[in-house]
Amino acid sequence: MAPGGRLSVVGTGIRPGGHLSREAQHLLQAADRVFCVVDGLTLERLRELNDRVESLQDSYARGRRRDDSYAEMVRRILAPLAEGLHVCAAFYGHPGVFVWPAHEAVRRARSAGYRAVMYPGISAEDCLFADLGVDPALNGCQSFEATDFLLHERRFDATAALILWQPITLGDLGRDAFESDPRWVRVLAEVLAEDYPRDHPVTVYEAAVFPLDEARIEQVPLERLHEVRFTQASTLYLPPRAPPVLSAERLRRLGIAESDLTPGAYQLHRQARGSTE
Ligand SMILES: C[S@@+](CC[C@H](N)C(=O)[O-])C[C@H]1O[C@@H](n2cnc3c(N)ncnc32)[C@H](O)[C@@H]1O
Repeated sequence: MAPGGRLSVVGTGIRPGGHLSREAQHLLQAADRVFCVVDGLTLERLRELNDRVESLQDSYARGRRRDDSYAEMVRRILAPLAEGLHVCAAFYGHPGVFVWPAHEAVRRARSAGYRAVMYPGISAEDCLFADLGVDPALNGCQSFEATDFLLHERRFDATAALILWQPITLGDLGRDAFESDPRWVRVLAEVLAEDYPRDHPVTVYEAAVFPLDEARIEQVPLERLHEVRFTQASTLYLPPRAPPVLSAERLRRLGIAESDLTPGAYQLHRQARGSTE
């Protein structure tokens, strides 16, 4: 028989006031124990829903490797399952987007035979689509972690939008720093300049978190990216460099001519906007 403990992993969204889903609220209320990695306002909101809330923020510490902090978080989340309790772990944004401890907790709980479910939340990327007016259907959209993007030979497509997460961690090889290394930012800009013009706009985006805040939407030319200051909430957005090229070879294989294609709403929109956002 499966052991009685149960794990629910939820996302609280980016804005504590409005993004917490009913589903997540219900799970948070019903849980025997709640662990969370959220801002102070969201923590207060969670405490209104359940008085057995424990913040995992104290697993982080300056100078401590983030991987050690994450491992400790997973241990803390999983421990009460052995007592047959329903544990709810809450992470800001979407719990499955750039949150290793959330995925690891679900994996480990399941492999120990517990029921473990992850529920989606509103991520920073969702807010970016809304605030920057980007529809990924228009040109496609690629999302990478900034350091991962820089260190690997990626075959990405500059005719689609590009989102780079966590620029603040650029150069943080020890995984214990809280600031990006300017040399890494310069090299990132040089690497991007192999596929984009040097004046290509890069938006530094930070979704508003608190009710009176406004989103940070700061545009800089690629060649001046090193002048920008990143925070823990910065995400980079690059619009496509040019429209995608229709494949003559695929049209031929499909037995159709370019003139046979009736432009859909997205193609018309792309033409009207000169093909890039
Ligand atoms: C560890 S990830 C967590 C992402 C989160 N789980 C989500 O669903 O959005 C942290 C990265 O998310 C992005 N991020 C977090 N808060 C943000 C915000 N308010 N606006 C824009 N991006 C944000 C940044 O790229 C940041 O470095």
